[in-house]
Amino acid sequence: MTGGPPRPYSADAELAESGARRISYSQRSMPLLEALAARFRADRPFDGMTVAACLHVTAETAVLARTLRAGGAQVALAASNPLSTQDDIAAALAAGDGVAVFARAGVDRRTYYEHIALALGEYGATGPDLVIDDGGDLMNTLHDLLPRGNVSPRGDGLPARGTPAPRPPRPPGSPRARRGSPPPRTPLARTPLGGCEGTTTGVLRLRRMAAEGALAFPVIAASDTPVKRLVDNTRGTGQSVIDGLLRASGVMLAGKVVVVAGFGACGTGIAECARGLGARVLVTEVDPVRALDAVLSGFRVLTLAEAAPIGEVFITATGTAEVITAEHMAMMRDGAILANAGHFDVEIDVRGLEALAAVVHPDVRPHTDMFELPDGRRLLLLAEGRVVNLVAADGHPPEVMDLAFGIEALALAWLAGNAEKLTPDVHPVPPDIDAEAARLVLAALGADIDSLTPAQRAYLASWHLGS
Ligand code: ADE
Repeated sequence: MTGGPPRPYSADAELAESGARRISYSQRSMPLLEALAARFRADRPFDGMTVAACLHVTAETAVLARTLRAGGAQVALAASNPLSTQDDIAAALAAGDGVAVFARAGVDRRTYYEHIALALGEYGATGPDLVIDDGGDLMNTLHDLLPRGNVSPRGDGLPARGTPAPRPPRPPGSPRARRGSPPPRTPLARTPLGGCEGTTTGVLRLRRMAAEGALAFPVIAASDTPVKRLVDNTRGTGQSVIDGLLRASGVMLAGKVVVVAGFGACGTGIAECARGLGARVLVTEVDPVRALDAVLSGFRVLTLAEAAPIGEVFITATGTAEVITAEHMAMMRDGAILANAGHFDVEIDVRGLEALAAVVHPDVRPHTDMFELPDGRRLLLLAEGRVVNLVAADGHPPEVMDLAFGIEALALAWLAGNAEKLTPDVHPVPPDIDAEAARLVLAALGADIDSLTPAQRAYLASWHLGS
C-alpha cells in the first residue's frame, strides 16, 4: 500500500444524515437490542475492550454496533461482503456513533481484505479483545496476522497461536480468484479473548480450523442456536432472498418453476416463500435426510441435471462450491434467472457462464446482468452471483436481526467475562442465552407464557411415572 494506512470511513454529512434516519427506523423494530443496550449501559461488560466486527454494513448492524458501544466497547467495523455495504449507514456510524468503519460499497477484493485487516487494528494497534464475524473472512485474516509462536496463556499444550489458517480451497474458475491478492500484513501484538460467528458457512470454516489445531481462541457458533435457525436462517433468509430476487429481476413468481438447490434451514425458507407466492418449487439436494424432508414437505426432488432444462428461476443455498455449472447452464431455457443465497460467490460458476456467452449485457436492470448464448438464449445472473438478499435487497428485516444480533451480543458479553474458561475451539451458545433472548423478545412483544407447575416439574424429573 502507498501513502500510509487508509483512515476509517468518513463521508459527507448528507449521506450520514440519511443513514442515521434509516438506523433509527430499524432500531424501532429491534426491542431485544434496545433492552440489551439498557442493560449494557448499567453493567458495562465491554469497558476498556475493543470489538472488531466483520458484518454486512446495514442499518441492523449499526444498531448492534450501538448496543456494543453502550456496553463500553470501542467498535471497529469492516464489511463481510464487498457488495453489501450501505454507504449511508457506514457514514452515519462513522460520523455519529464513534465506530471506526472500514467499508465502502463495491470495493475490489484487495481493498475488502485490507479493510478487514484495518478493523483488526493493523498499523500499530494491539488488536481486538473480542471479534464478531459473518462468514469467516475476519477469522482467516486475523489468524494470518497473529504473531507466530504466540502460545496459549493457559499453557495447555495447544498448538502455537498464529499458525496461518488455511484458506478455503478456491474452486477453479471462482470469480474471486480473478481479483488481486490481499496486501502484505503487519502482525498483531496479541490474540483476542474470544469471538462469535453468525453464519453456518463461517462455523464450518472454523470447525475445519479447529480440527487442524489452527484456531487460536474460543469462538461461539451463534448460527447453531435453535432460535437463530428458526428465525434467521429459515424465515429471514426465505423472505429476504425472495425480496432480492424480485427487486433485481422484477419477475412475477406465481406459476414459475423455481429450483432451490439445497434444503437446509435457508433453502427450506426460500422454497416455502417461493411456494407462498405461487411458484412451482423443485428442490435439489445431496443429503438424503434433507431430501426426504423436502419430499415430505410437498416439493418435487430431482437432480440439478434434471432440473436445469425445466427451471425458470434457480436459487442456490448450499454453502458449497460449483453447484450450478456451465454444463447445467448450457441446458437452461431462454430467460432462466440465476441467483445465489449462499454466503460466498462460489455456488454459481460465473466464469463458466461468461465463457459460455457470446455477448454480455451488464445491468439490464440494477443487479441483473444478461448473458446471451451463441444460439440466442439469454440467461440472467443476479447480484454477480453474490449473496442476493444483501446485494440486491437490504438483507434480513430488523425483527430477524434483532434476535440474531441479540444472541451474539449476549454471547460476546458472556465471553468478555468467561472466555478464559474455554479452550480454543468452536463452542455452542450457552443454552441460557437462547432462552433469555427469546424471553426478552416475548416480553417486548407483550406475549406471556406459562410456567411449569411443581407437579409438572416432578413428573418431568421422574422416570417412575407412566400412564
Ligand atoms: N445478514 C442477513 N441480513 C442482514 C442484515 N440485515 N444486516 C446484517 N447482516 C445480515
